[in-house]
Amino acid sequence: RVPTVGIDIGGTKVMAGVVDADGHILETLRTETPHKSKSPKVVEDTIADLVLDLSERHDVHAVGIGAAGWVDADRSRVLFAPHLAWRDEPLRDALTERLRVPVMVDNDANAAAWAEWRFGAGRGEADLVMITLGTGIGGAILEDGQVKRGRYGVAGEFGHMQVVPGGHRCPCGNRGCWEQYSSGNALVREARELAAAESPVAYGIIERVGGRIDEITGPLITELAREGDAMCVELFQEIGQWLGVGIANLAAALDPSCFVIGGGVSAADDLLIGPARDAFRRTLTGRGYRPEARIVTAELGPEAGMVGAADLARLVARRFRRAN
Ligand code: BGC
Ligand code: NA
Ligand code: ZN
Repeated sequence: RVPTVGIDIGGTKVMAGVVDADGHILETLRTETPHKSKSPKVVEDTIADLVLDLSERHDVHAVGIGAAGWVDADRSRVLFAPHLAWRDEPLRDALTERLRVPVMVDNDANAAAWAEWRFGAGRGEADLVMITLGTGIGGAILEDGQVKRGRYGVAGEFGHMQVVPGGHRCPCGNRGCWEQYSSGNALVREARELAAAESPVAYGIIERVGGRIDEITGPLITELAREGDAMCVELFQEIGQWLGVGIANLAAALDPSCFVIGGGVSAADDLLIGPARDAFRRTLTGRGYRPEARIVTAELGPEAGMVGAADLARLVARRFRRAN
């Protein structure tokens, strides 16, 4: 029952933590994700440094990685990551060799879903869909505690469903992807655009950053929205609406009993979930004639991916011990 390390690698931040068998976090370290233009090796170095740092104070027996990208069916390679430099990266083997402990690699949203099912808002739900709103949108489908991976490992890439023909360009290469309308990036893009246009609705946020528009971040928009800043509240309504419509589409395809909303943007809680629930109810196909899924905020918050990665690593390490 020794603690394991979980690492969540997003497009903006890396979070690493030591987590015990009950999902409790014993220590967390945070750092910025190395820029996409840097070599993939730099992210690997970042991970190794974080694990070594934590190893100084904890007995680390296994490491789990939740990565913001497409992980293959063997959970060994990162095939592609729109917000990271990885292209067919043999992450698991490279890290196993460097760290000399069992390493588990999975998609970040899959890891978050696992954590919410084990310890959080989705406990005991037989049909759960997780949606994480961070730099992009992550997704996961969990049936009876099993992550549905599809044939090649990349099921649940909801963020890249194309919802607006000819819409905003996405780093995945396409246009109009859902995550261009309902994510941290979408929130920041809209706020900066309004600020750059010197729209009167943006005066509050312009003042807060002293005119330095590139200092407008997701957490700042959340803070201002909480204080009642009209523009920021409206931006959450907008991305909340896009979230609700997307959830209605997912309900049409998958019909789960529960949607858990996590990722950094979910810290806005009701400011986001309220409009999402409204849009979901207004747009769900067959509304009024079918049971409606619950929409809830992740209980483990933005830490879900890290906790899930650590817990999945524990399972992998156990299997590893049995086999050897
Ligand atoms: C990636 C996913 C990831 C999500 C959240 C998306 O852009 O394609 O793999 O889960 O962002 O980080
Ligand atoms: Na996923
Ligand atoms: Zn895309």
